[in-house]
Amino acid sequence: MRMPLWYGGDYNPEQWPEEVWAEDVALMRRAGVTLVTVGVFSWSRLEPAEGRYTFGWLDRVLDLLAGGGIGVDLAVPTASPPPWFSLEHPDALTVTRDGVRLTHGSRDTYCVSAPAYREASLRITRALAERYRDHRAPVMWHVHNEYGTPCHCDHAAAAFRAWLRRRYGGLDALNDAWTTAFWGQRYSDWAQITPPRATQYLPNPAQALDFRRFVSDEMLAHFAEQRDLLRELTPGVPVTTNYVLAGWACVDHWKWSREVDLVSVDDYPSGRGMAAAEQTAFAADLARSWAGGRPWLLMEQATGYVLGPRASPKEPGEIARHSLQHVARGSQGAMFFQWRASRGGAEQWHPGMVPHAGPDSRVFREVCALGEALGRIPAPVDGPLIGPPVVEAEVAILWDEEAWWAVQGPGLPSAEIDYLAAAQQAHRVLWRQGVAVCFAHPSHDLPPYRAVLVPSLYLISDEAARNLAAYVEGGGTLVVSFFSGIADEHTRIRPGGYPGALREVLGIRVEEFRPLAEPVELPELGPSTVWSEVVHLDGAEAVARYPGGGPAVTRHRVGAGTAWYVSTRLDDSGYARVLAQAGPAGSGTPGVEVVRQRDRVFAINHTEDEQPVPVDGTDLITGRPVDGSLGPGGYVVVPVQTRPAVDPRRFRDLPNHR
Ligand code: GAL
Repeated sequence: MRMPLWYGGDYNPEQWPEEVWAEDVALMRRAGVTLVTVGVFSWSRLEPAEGRYTFGWLDRVLDLLAGGGIGVDLAVPTASPPPWFSLEHPDALTVTRDGVRLTHGSRDTYCVSAPAYREASLRITRALAERYRDHRAPVMWHVHNEYGTPCHCDHAAAAFRAWLRRRYGGLDALNDAWTTAFWGQRYSDWAQITPPRATQYLPNPAQALDFRRFVSDEMLAHFAEQRDLLRELTPGVPVTTNYVLAGWACVDHWKWSREVDLVSVDDYPSGRGMAAAEQTAFAADLARSWAGGRPWLLMEQATGYVLGPRASPKEPGEIARHSLQHVARGSQGAMFFQWRASRGGAEQWHPGMVPHAGPDSRVFREVCALGEALGRIPAPVDGPLIGPPVVEAEVAILWDEEAWWAVQGPGLPSAEIDYLAAAQQAHRVLWRQGVAVCFAHPSHDLPPYRAVLVPSLYLISDEAARNLAAYVEGGGTLVVSFFSGIADEHTRIRPGGYPGALREVLGIRVEEFRPLAEPVELPELGPSTVWSEVVHLDGAEAVARYPGGGPAVTRHRVGAGTAWYVSTRLDDSGYARVLAQAGPAGSGTPGVEVVRQRDRVFAINHTEDEQPVPVDGTDLITGRPVDGSLGPGGYVVVPVQTRPAVDPRRFRDLPNHR
């Protein structure tokens, strides 16, 4: 039997008098809500003093929800330790790189390495699991919230040293990896090593990068402790934690995604209108790729736009379209932050599924309509967590947080190199052409995609470089953007000409970088900004040149494949022209999104005009026939015959081997 999709949001009932709770459940039922996340920030309410618990209110909330047939994603509230805890354990409060110890009064103020915090986390986790293991409401555990607080205190320093010992074995290896010979930084005792705290001038880039790796691993260890305890006490109940998306990459998502039972992501686009649709597709493709063929869920989004200088409502229809973009890519549902907009507190102006205006509002009517629509779309799998549908991807974009962190490091030749922007551009250009995309780690086994795109991947390991070369030799098309392959995993430059690790496969040698202050016009490709290079051909041919005559875009045939190099930042149309020559272009209509799963197709029209769509059949949502066109802002989900088998390696999400 196919399950319904999950639909709902964060539910924080403790901020409302109990009379409101019954109305909440009635409204949830009206809206078709099937799942709510409860208790994310409830620690101080649940444990008002060490070891003293007040579960009565939560018992009543869970009973009410269960009575309404609504499932609960029960949170472990470790993201917001209570004030009493901070006062008793000031050593567990976050210390910034400037040495400022933060205080309670907001949220996310903890040090994951502090023993008292680790102990208290396990205590509240155990108490919750023991209390609710036999309750019928919880269907899932939600550990913490958007892990992402680095700490620079002495506990963190000790844990960082232990992590470094495991990574390097001995100090000689660490000194070598960090190039401590420069600026007299050589360490002769482990005790001398600290997190990258405030320094007089530039910190050591390898140290900064290792610290980000460590923070990700240390937070993962905290997650894994709660997860293991929950698995022991409530076997069979899946455990997740919601990743923060957008420009804030705090964890290595490939690594983390192997540790969660369900990948879940929060998605708040910073753009508006079409830009928001593009960013939503990007976020959903990332989540799907991290899940690597396993289930995933859009855990949070908003009914309005919350990022940027001003908050604004989503336009009519956008709430549904954004949700369907995720569901189309295999999300097991669509969840929001939060159910009811708060009256007070720091996020009192954050939109909710029930806005301040109450249920008699456009937003709530759209929320109800979306619930009804999702209720007509069977979840993609049999059983709650078997796996999302196969989504056909034709092109892979390489994604690696370590490379991103490295490019955010100190002392780089341009402050304008932006890994996220490069990855988003690659995705956006293909999205507009209707080309289905997935993300892959540089060392993933790469099936024969039509192309693999490499966005400003500064840091690359030898293993990954060999992987990319093998992909090209085997017949693949690789399109590498500037500032890729320059450094090894310790941020050390690979000498002999850029782009070190990829020089051979690209058939070029770059002698100098020339970051650009002003745009330069490239014949046929339009403006080139941010960056330029002095490129020498070493087997490759020039496809486009700088006004001075030097190669700007090159092509190199290697084995059965081709490797392209784009040595500057092009605008979207220039980059699209390169891709069209390289191969992975599509013929979709910009703003009309068609996502094919194994046995159904989603079509979403983000434009304001009627548009043709290559879809015929009966819409699962309305039951009406679809005859090859979609009205402005329209969307349909149409079952299709399972198509004949294609190369199974080609049309498949990559398993997450990392
Ligand atoms: C998320 C967070 C939520 C809420 C939301 C507001 O990042 O998990 O708790 O703060 O942002 O947009």
